[in-house]
Amino acid sequence: MKFEAKAFLLVIGVVAFMFLGTYFTMIVPLTDPALYTPTKDAKPYTTLEAKGKKIYEREGCVYCHTQQVRNLLEETQRYGMGEEETFKRFGIRTLIQAPPSQPGEYVYDQPHLLGTRRVGPDLARVGGKYDNTWHLNHFRDPRSTSPGSLMPAYTWLYDKAGQPTGEAVALVAYIQKLGTNYRWREEGVEQARALQSKRAPAVPAQQAVPPTTTQEGAQ
Ligand code: HEC
Repeated sequence: MKFEAKAFLLVIGVVAFMFLGTYFTMIVPLTDPALYTPTKDAKPYTTLEAKGKKIYEREGCVYCHTQQVRNLLEETQRYGMGEEETFKRFGIRTLIQAPPSQPGEYVYDQPHLLGTRRVGPDLARVGGKYDNTWHLNHFRDPRSTSPGSLMPAYTWLYDKAGQPTGEAVALVAYIQKLGTNYRWREEGVEQARALQSKRAPAVPAQQAVPPTTTQEGAQ
């Protein structure tokens, strides 16, 4: 009560609390070295990819797409690789979850394009999911690759003959780069292969075990 009656002390108190709040919720987290340490696979953008990123910013893709896989099963499964994809690309049938995004993957993103709305799917792990032709067709006419899609057609990235301009090519290069700062597809497939080869010898061994018959025969 007495404290509140003294305007000067009150102001000092409010400022001190605001400073403490800012310090512990903003300044301390910003000193976390993980924010500035690239992941081991992280590479800076090439000139073409950097040009594509500018087009992504200009066209407002960020209004419909996020670039962050959160630590939730629904997301790691949805944005991972399904059996069809692993079989088609790596010749092995297995599900591989997408790893949640890590700060070290974004060190070369200035500005980052994490986004806040998901009208379309998250794009943080989309690099390598489709081939370049798929993306070129999709940007020119999203309904041709994804029936019923709400995504706008980016026809101005193509010339009159429907051929992709340098901008479309750069945009595809940027999209294919997303998520490759972490070699999760390759690592996931390597792990799955290692698991399978460990399991594989166990099968013939089990089959080769019918000692019961020989025992019976001996009895
Ligand atoms: C109006 C919202 C909207 C905008 C703007 C938009 N998209 Fe999309 N995007 C979608 C929707 C919805 C889908 C899912 C259907 C489909 O595949 O088209 C999608 C799908 C995608 C996919 C395939 C993702 C996957 O995993 O299958 C890519 C890549 C993509 N968009 C890139 C872009 C790029 C690049 C831009 C900017 C040039 C952009 N989008 C702008 C709504 C949008």
